[in-house]
Amino acid sequence: PRITIAIDGFSSCGKSTMAKALARRIGYIYIDSGAMYRAVTLYCLDHNLIDGDTVDTEALRSHMDDIHIDFRPDPATGKTHTFLNNRDVEQEIRSMRVSDKVSPVSAIPFVRTAMVAAQQKMGERKGIVMDGRDIGTTVFPRAELKIFVTASAETRAQRRVDELKDKGVAVDFDEVVANINKRDHIDQTRKESPLRRADDAILLDNSHMTIDEQDAWLLARYNE
Ligand code: C5P
Repeated sequence: PRITIAIDGFSSCGKSTMAKALARRIGYIYIDSGAMYRAVTLYCLDHNLIDGDTVDTEALRSHMDDIHIDFRPDPATGKTHTFLNNRDVEQEIRSMRVSDKVSPVSAIPFVRTAMVAAQQKMGERKGIVMDGRDIGTTVFPRAELKIFVTASAETRAQRRVDELKDKGVAVDFDEVVANINKRDHIDQTRKESPLRRADDAILLDNSHMTIDEQDAWLLARYNE
């Protein structure tokens, strides 16, 4: 039977790489929940709803019904791209401009409520692998397989730099480390932090694993 697989953890610790690989391998759909928070953030930036690190929450609330996010395969590559109001924003949502502001946007309760509801709708059809922060706790508390991934900040920064390079986005390593540390801090210290390990999640520290090793590890958990 098809099941729901939840992969949570810190940013850039390899969640999406392993989630995508497993989904491809077992014929499941992969959903990147972080891309949805990034798309809302891009919307806010495009509509001047962010000043410094402050989001104009009341204005955003009145815009929520106008924000439509979905995922579609790119006709050229077959890779899944994120769409915001019918516009392909896959590249833009990975920019530092968005990475820098995504934490305050994703901390807004009504943003989370809307994203969680959309994610649960996508998960009605079983056979999905979703990665994020709160998938095993809030979005799919009854997921059959839950993984919680960690890795050191330097390992994660290097992975983020490589990932962005693959997408043709050039970034500075130190800037990425700073951004990761800042987001970790916000993600961990805010009262309603979404990042919590579910009691029944299996812990994986992949700092010293190759991609092949972590893919094999995850496949073994799926087959257990
Ligand atoms: O996974 P990614 O790093 O792309 O996520 C971007 C940001 O979105 C995270 O730093 C976090 O603040 C937020 N996020 C979240 N809940 C999720 C996924 C992402 O709050 N399920």
